[in-house]
Amino acid sequence: MENSLIPGYAYGQVSRSPVTLEELELLKQTVLFSDADVAALAQAGQVLAPQTNAILDVWYGFVGAHPHLLRYFSLHGQPDGDYLARVRARFGQWILDVCIKPYDQAWLDYQHEIGLRHTSAKKNVTDGAMAEPLIHLRYLTAFIVPLTATIKPFLQRGGHAETEVEAMHAAWFKAVTLTATLWSYPYVKEGQF
Ligand code: HEM
Repeated sequence: MENSLIPGYAYGQVSRSPVTLEELELLKQTVLFSDADVAALAQAGQVLAPQTNAILDVWYGFVGAHPHLLRYFSLHGQPDGDYLARVRARFGQWILDVCIKPYDQAWLDYQHEIGLRHTSAKKNVTDGAMAEPLIHLRYLTAFIVPLTATIKPFLQRGGHAETEVEAMHAAWFKAVTLTATLWSYPYVKEGQF
């Protein structure tokens, strides 16, 4: 589902990533990302699509249970419900995009945009929020673990054999690592990415 109805979702309408497709290819090789992972992610997309709300409940529950994470959605210690809700809709779309979209120039460009939206360059801008001005890079990297650990039970609910679930889970881990790596670009000094 292409979704221009999601507020702030701007896939295909953002500026070009400074990372090239050649560099993306080398990153893919570095996380052992292969055609088999593309196929496993496509299968994961089918399994996860009807479950996105339940997945987001788990992830938002995790953030909500940790004040050091919830602060990034908060102003003066008060969580901003509108901001949480708007980001949630885009987060749901991201689950599908990770699994189903081709990792082409448009995908690469949107990874850079999402990275910027976690930094002081663009955080809060899309939703007119006034929360913390940036998400510290250390949590972006660390978040790969809960996003990967918590997805497994949802992958298991698709009725696929355990080997297929393992393949989907491994592909998801690679894809999330790849995206979080691309999102780190705007945090690092020029020439050091
Ligand atoms: C935005 C995923 C780490 C807080 C988003 C969006 C996605 C996403 C898909 C919406 C992108 C869009 O605008 O289309 C992820 C992933 C992470 C990660 C995959 C790690 C691997 C974190 C962490 C926090 C966080 C650690 C801290 C609680 C936020 C906030 C926004 C956001 C506040 C809204 C940014 C804005 O103002 O536009 N994230 N995120 N994220 N994320 Fe993350």
